[in-house]
Amino acid sequence: MIVVLNFGGQFAHLIARRIRDLGVRAEILPGDASASAVAALKPSGIILSGSPHSVLEDGPLPDREIFHLNVPVLGICYGHQAMAYLLGGKVETEEQKEFGKETLSIKKKNKLFKGLASKEIVWFSHGDQATRLPGGFVATASTKTCKLAAFADEKRRFYGIQFHPEVTHTVRGNTILSNFVFGICRAKEDWDMKSVAKKIIADMKKEVGDAHVVIGISGGVDSLVAATLLYKAIGNRLHAVFVDTGLLRKNEVESVSKSLRSRGFKNLHVIDASEAFLSRLEGVTDPEEKRTIIGHSFVEVFEGALDKELKAFPIKYLAQGTIYPDRIESASTSKHASKIKSHHNLTLPARMRLDVLEPVKDLYKDEVRKVGEELGIPHDMVWRHPFPGPGLAVRIVGEVTKERLAILREADAVFTEELRAGKEYDKIWQAFAALFPLKVVGVMGDARTYEYVIALRAVDSVDGMSADWHKIPDELLSRISSKIVNSVRGVNRVLYDVTQKPPATIEYE
Ligand code: XMP
Repeated sequence: MIVVLNFGGQFAHLIARRIRDLGVRAEILPGDASASAVAALKPSGIILSGSPHSVLEDGPLPDREIFHLNVPVLGICYGHQAMAYLLGGKVETEEQKEFGKETLSIKKKNKLFKGLASKEIVWFSHGDQATRLPGGFVATASTKTCKLAAFADEKRRFYGIQFHPEVTHTVRGNTILSNFVFGICRAKEDWDMKSVAKKIIADMKKEVGDAHVVIGISGGVDSLVAATLLYKAIGNRLHAVFVDTGLLRKNEVESVSKSLRSRGFKNLHVIDASEAFLSRLEGVTDPEEKRTIIGHSFVEVFEGALDKELKAFPIKYLAQGTIYPDRIESASTSKHASKIKSHHNLTLPARMRLDVLEPVKDLYKDEVRKVGEELGIPHDMVWRHPFPGPGLAVRIVGEVTKERLAILREADAVFTEELRAGKEYDKIWQAFAALFPLKVVGVMGDARTYEYVIALRAVDSVDGMSADWHKIPDELLSRISSKIVNSVRGVNRVLYDVTQKPPATIEYE
């Protein structure tokens, strides 16, 4: 396994994912984790990630002792500078910042650059650079403006590269990472989804013993996969609560229930709380207030189910579909950890006094999906687009009413069906319809209409943090628009959202 020390950029996750894709387990620790915490994981190698900080301006630094663990270290960008800085080299702020693609000239071939040509395209993003080598190191590559773009001390197995091998713009980035992981660290291949699924099931079986577990199902892939893993581990001692908030997509309750029941799962409690949710949302237009009402109502309904439907069972654990990035973001104790997105999934209060189980807590979203496929969950369920906890309420601008929900649900279903039929759905990260609380003029037959506006949003993204609007082929877009206006009562106009995030968010509220 490889430890990735996270200095606060988004790059650490990307590095860990690349390593896992090579079939080797990768774990992220805070950049300033102690050497003993690192050593406890018995890593074959350590990677120091990039960072938005500067080592010259009080940026976080790794524990010096990690250089005495007799483990290979690869410093990337900020990590490369931190290595130079700590081991006796010099780092300076350059007037000319490097950002984007550059040609790297490899001066000295070593194990890290095995299989590379003497010139390679790599991706840079930095303001500082190392200007003097630490003792024992030699320069191995440069660019026009960066003399020490790479250095190495092959004896101690320390390598520094100023560019980012983990981004796809660095053409041979994967070769470099693979050279480090296998050629230098001699890491074992210990990460594939089949064995990961097996291990999770075995671990859960052991941890839960003969206790009973409750899980909240949201319709999303994380909780569905978590529930399926747990079901394999403990069978009918798993109880699932699926709260129908009245804010779900069309056929959501049916399709999720079917997927669970078809695997033999019996203890599914669908609680129809839609009336309670909708009446509390009546007249509410403020987005934050809507979210708060939904969050509180959800907890109330869930607790109600524990007191009523599940009262007879000795429930000891509450299982959640927390995934790896959620955990890393919220557990990061380092003062430098950059909080990119406050986690806004519906979480249940600690006062429930149930122990928490998180079967998929070590997995990235794409890994959760692969495990889902291993478990035989149908493709369309596993590859569903993300759906926000507060549901359609954040896709109706302004007040949520039954009428608006019914219109939106239909329009959204048409959009999704057509994207699937046009083989576009799987190319998109997230797509949905939203409803604006305004009525506009149209014409149908001889009559003037006065109906709602529907906006279609489809985005390309990696993790939802930033996004670009997806280019749907004109013909398909036109078909979708006609079908919505013709088949969904109450809509006479369809808009396509062509805004990036930032500045827009993906959802409307
Ligand atoms: P935004 O709208 O912030 O969305 O650009 C980014 C991603 O997060 C999802 N999202 C939510 N998910 N509860 C959730 O579980 C929420 O309150 C929530 N708000 C946004 C959104 O669907 C997108 O995938």
